Amino acid sequence: MGRNRLVAGNWKMNGSSALIQSFFDDMKNQSLPDQVGLLLCPPLVYLPEMLAAARGTGISVGAQTVCETAEAGAFTGEVSAEMLSDIGASHVIVGHSERRHIYGESSDMVASKFSAAQSAGLVPILCVGETLEEREAGNMETVLAEQLGCVLSQCGASALGQAIVAYEPVWAIGTGKTASPEQAQAAHAFLRSQVAAQDDTIAAGLQILYGGSVKPDNAAELFACEDVDGGLIGGASLKVESFLGIARAG
Ligand code: 13P
Repeated sequence: MGRNRLVAGNWKMNGSSALIQSFFDDMKNQSLPDQVGLLLCPPLVYLPEMLAAARGTGISVGAQTVCETAEAGAFTGEVSAEMLSDIGASHVIVGHSERRHIYGESSDMVASKFSAAQSAGLVPILCVGETLEEREAGNMETVLAEQLGCVLSQCGASALGQAIVAYEPVWAIGTGKTASPEQAQAAHAFLRSQVAAQDDTIAAGLQILYGGSVKPDNAAELFACEDVDGGLIGGASLKVESFLGIARAG
C-alpha cells in the first residue's frame, strides 16, 4: 500500500488543563508504535498548552477548525491559519460534520478553509461523510462527490498532495455504531477514485482516515482495509489507553 498510517485524535469541545497534564504524564510511560503518526487536536484555547506538553513526544498538534479568510482583519472571534501556524500547529481539521451540520458550513466555505490552511503551511484534514438519511436514500456517493468535489474544483487535485481526507459517516459519530470494514472500504475506494480521475499519483499517495466510533477493539479490522490509512478518533482519543490501543491495532 505504501502509505503511512496516521491516528489523529479530535478532542472536540472536551478536556481541560488538568486533562492535558495527566494525558501527557500517562504518555511518558508508554512506548509509541513505530510507523504510526500521532496527532491530537484539542479545543483552540488549549493549543499552546498541548503544544508545550507534546514537545519531544513525537505527537503532532493541530486545530479543529480555522477561519476561511486568509488575511488578518475584522473577523471577531475567528482565528486565522497564519496564527495557528505561528504558534506551531501542524494540521487543521476542516469540514467536520459538526461544523457542517451544527454551524451550517457549506462545502464552498470548507474549501476556502482548506485553501487558507494550505497557504499558511498547515496540513488540512478534510472531513466528508453522509448522514443516515442520505445513505438510506442511496446518496452516499453523491454527497461524498460534492463535498470532495468542491475542494477539487476550488483548489485542484494537486492540493490533495499536501492534505489528508477523513471519511466520517455522520451516523457513526459518537453513536457507538461503526461502519463495517466493507462499508468503510467502499467509501474510501470511492473517494480515492474521485481523486484518481484527476490525478492517479496524488490519489495513490493520499491518506484517507476513517472516523466514527473507532475503538481499540474495532480498529484493526478497519485499518486492515486497503484504502483505510488510519483513523480520526473522537471519544477514544481522550484517554491514553484507548488512543494508543487504537494506534497499536493491526
Ligand atoms: P467518535 O470517535 O467519538 O465517534 O468521533 C468521531 C469523530 O467525529 C472524530 O472527528
